Amino acid sequence: MTVIKHADPASIREAATLIQRGELVAFPTETVYGLGADALNAEAVARIYAAKGRPSTDPLIVHIHDARQIDQVAIRVPPLAYALMERFWPGALTLVLPRAESIPASVSAGLATVAVRMPDHPVAMQLIQMADRPIAAPSANRFAHTSPTTAQHVYDDLAGRLPLILDGGPCAIGVESTILNLTVQPPLVLRPGGISLEQLRDVIPTVARLERYLHPNEEALPAPGMLLKHYSPRATVRVYEGEPDAIRAAIRRDCADSIANGQCVGLMLADEDEVTDHRDVIIVRLGGLDDLEAVAQELFSGLRALDECGVDVILARAFPVTGIGAAVRDRMVRAAEGRIIAV
Ligand code: TXA
Ligand code: MG
Repeated sequence: MTVIKHADPASIREAATLIQRGELVAFPTETVYGLGADALNAEAVARIYAAKGRPSTDPLIVHIHDARQIDQVAIRVPPLAYALMERFWPGALTLVLPRAESIPASVSAGLATVAVRMPDHPVAMQLIQMADRPIAAPSANRFAHTSPTTAQHVYDDLAGRLPLILDGGPCAIGVESTILNLTVQPPLVLRPGGISLEQLRDVIPTVARLERYLHPNEEALPAPGMLLKHYSPRATVRVYEGEPDAIRAAIRRDCADSIANGQCVGLMLADEDEVTDHRDVIIVRLGGLDDLEAVAQELFSGLRALDECGVDVILARAFPVTGIGAAVRDRMVRAAEGRIIAV
């Protein structure tokens, strides 16, 4: 049985004890909820993959609460890593470094590297500290499904597969951390996220971005986590990009066509968009076109909300790609499995 508990000191203590016993606990971070286990215990780590239905080829992120813990997790940590930790930790930046021997290979899907970050959330920090060990945690959703930004989202996906979900309210950022590989030159962003490319360029002017998505039938993975199909709701998602009026006209037209075909339609729009007042169309507004932080925070819960309404198609507008907008775009492209419509 799975229980959701308000993350007060007693329940965080209980969660820490569960982690020490090799059990799973879901906990809030500033990005999304994580599904945590003792990162030093291979059996506990195996439970994460099983609970998520995650292939063993997709590595996990290790969470620490104190920069000194880095030596327990990684080796040959370069000076640049310390500069980034100083600037961005605690926060939404995950660093890929050579893996220390104390971390089981299964945490990293057999890779010689390890992904590590320090979450900017008091509950996550206290949990790691009380458990007194690094905590491996992917996002607490079923594999390839939309990431959870509330405790209820975790429950909806994973009830019955873990004993405890700590409820710390909705996540402030709403998209996952930025993943930066520091084992290559120049350092390479593997996933855009809560820390923007612009912020990283401030520290690493040469930073590169891997922007390639793999279709499900492609074989070799250039890097883990590159699958196009990810963050997927049940509904078919299409993303419209272009000038605002052209986007609105295209969504209006396709919305009408879908309704005529008997489909139930959901729209993901900006506050500024006026598209339809048809009463059967379900509209989620993510935020203003110039408020990308709000858009990021609402993105995953918006996808889930539309799915819960049982819509067949989700027609979503694209947002500007500056700052956290790059992460929003990445998640939308994947939710849409590449169905981007330029108008
Ligand atoms: O914000 C976040 O990062 C959240 C919270 C819970 O911390 N976690 C998260 O984990 O998003 P997850 O499992 O959904 O994504 C982990 C991704 C993998 O899919 C993979 O792309 C990348 O991190 N990753 C992990 N270890 C790696 C490694 N050694 N080399 C390259 N990529 C790695
Ligand atoms: Mg995930």
